[in-house]
Amino acid sequence: MPMSPVRLRDDVPEDVKISAEEIHAGRDVDAEELRHTPREYQELVVNILGGHAAGEAFVLNDNVYAHWAADAPTTEDRFMVLRTIEEELMHAREAFRMLRQIDELVVYDELVPYALATLEGFQHPVSEWAEHAALCALTDRVGTFQQEEQLDCSYLPYAESIRTAFFPYEKGHAARGRYWLRRLCETDEGREQAQRAVDVWWPRSLDMFGKSNTARQHRFVYYRLKKRTNEERRQSFISIVGPELESLGLTVPDEMVGRKIA
Ligand SMILES: [Fe+2]
Ligand SMILES: [Fe+2]
Repeated sequence: MPMSPVRLRDDVPEDVKISAEEIHAGRDVDAEELRHTPREYQELVVNILGGHAAGEAFVLNDNVYAHWAADAPTTEDRFMVLRTIEEELMHAREAFRMLRQIDELVVYDELVPYALATLEGFQHPVSEWAEHAALCALTDRVGTFQQEEQLDCSYLPYAESIRTAFFPYEKGHAARGRYWLRRLCETDEGREQAQRAVDVWWPRSLDMFGKSNTARQHRFVYYRLKKRTNEERRQSFISIVGPELESLGLTVPDEMVGRKIA
């Protein structure tokens, strides 16, 4: 993993007025109060915001994503792609806005919003339209499985932003992908293309839920920043999204095939 370009400053002394136990028990935290929470909590919040700030704008990467604004099959599709790009960039800016609220706690001088593909899955060029469809249907859907747990998370600026700026739009991105997959599956040739794309993007999507055995995932849950472990979230995705793919006539790959993270 490359070192995150967004880090908690290490020269700000801890000044805890809101304890870990209080946050765990239901005490929410606003931006001014973050200064007075345990360092561990601050680190988790900065990790989440930094991930969005560094990762969302990967849609500007031409080989992976942006070229579909020109290369998608129809004019309508091109404008749908454009709209998703706009919304992902809005997500990156929204994360940066939240980082600026906690300016005195964070270092992000080296942050270039799209220089770094933070997830391994987004480092591969996407040159087939069916792959773009599968990428949107599956990876944006992964995002919604995370975000639905954060609508009422303990860090208030983020919870508000998830409700208004992230979750409703992420659902839309996945819906566009499903629409494209469904359209492809109307012909035998299209369904074969869609199947090949799903075979590639299913394991990458499952990997995006993260490792099953990290200690940190339990701390996110403890602090009410997430609700489920990585594996619980991954299994929920398999049980809901798998049957949706099957209803299009697609075969869902075995959950361990092609995986890089388990
Ligand atoms: Fe996004
Ligand atoms: Fe998205």
